[in-house]
Amino acid sequence: MTQRTVYVNGEYVAERDARVSIFDRGFLLADGVYEVSSVLEGKLIDFPGHMGRLKRSAAELEMALPWDEKALLTIHRELIRRNALAEGMVYLQLTRGSAGDRDFGYPDTDTPPTLVLFTQAKSLVDSRSGSEGIRVVTQPDWRWARRDIKTVQLLYPAMAKMAAKAAGADDAWMVEDGMVTEGASNNAWMLTHDGTLVTRELSHAILPGITRAVVLEIAEALSLRVEERAFSVEEAQSAKECFVTSASSFVTPVIAIDDVSIGDGCPGEVARRLRAAYIEESRRRAI
Ligand code: PDD
Repeated sequence: MTQRTVYVNGEYVAERDARVSIFDRGFLLADGVYEVSSVLEGKLIDFPGHMGRLKRSAAELEMALPWDEKALLTIHRELIRRNALAEGMVYLQLTRGSAGDRDFGYPDTDTPPTLVLFTQAKSLVDSRSGSEGIRVVTQPDWRWARRDIKTVQLLYPAMAKMAAKAAGADDAWMVEDGMVTEGASNNAWMLTHDGTLVTRELSHAILPGITRAVVLEIAEALSLRVEERAFSVEEAQSAKECFVTSASSFVTPVIAIDDVSIGDGCPGEVARRLRAAYIEESRRRAI
């Protein structure tokens, strides 16, 4: 595979030459936050939304972010250019840096944060899961209680995705007190038989998805009825349609939950429409 050019602390380097300290707090303590922004035709989708959330995540953790949106846009664009990325994602990770040893306490504020970005080429518009839908299994939501902050502590979502794979499914939906919180790496939605779109309200329990926010806008523009509230696994299983949203999956139909088919077991009409509308709107807004 050809070597990507990646970004590490102010430098563009070949991936094999990229270095971060073993004392980096992202590595030792998962003391870091991240963003994934998608790219279509070499342009960034929902970029201001992703950078706004990055700023919020860092602020919630009192983590320094000494780059403004303009500087971050320049880095994203330079990486897209250097890697000739037409379609895929740019991954950004910011950590509290390294104080040169292991210590729980935050280092002095003059400790520079670590900023790493790299590209991932992927076919996002023409994807099998997008056209055929995915099967999910439910898993207890055993993540921490501040899921609104996009931290790099992703061991539990990784475990949940492995459990889904072992069960012959594609992804996991997290459940707390009988109610769906969100997918392991996406927001969960359902469409009731009376045509109301339902997705959980924002709180510390879920990540405020950027794709979720745009899909809510699109739903409103299409005059769809929307309710932001929690729903149970049983309600979702008997819904007309279900789907997930995320930067990398856009709008992806869910065709089964714990082996119970949703609707007729095929991708739903509304999910398909929202996927097409989201892609169209994203191409229009891409920068
Ligand atoms: N995941 N919920 C969780 C737990 C997520 O990890 C994500 C994103 C989302 C959707 O957020 P957005 O629409 O802003 O991508 C919801 C990214 C794509 C990832 O970890 O790869």
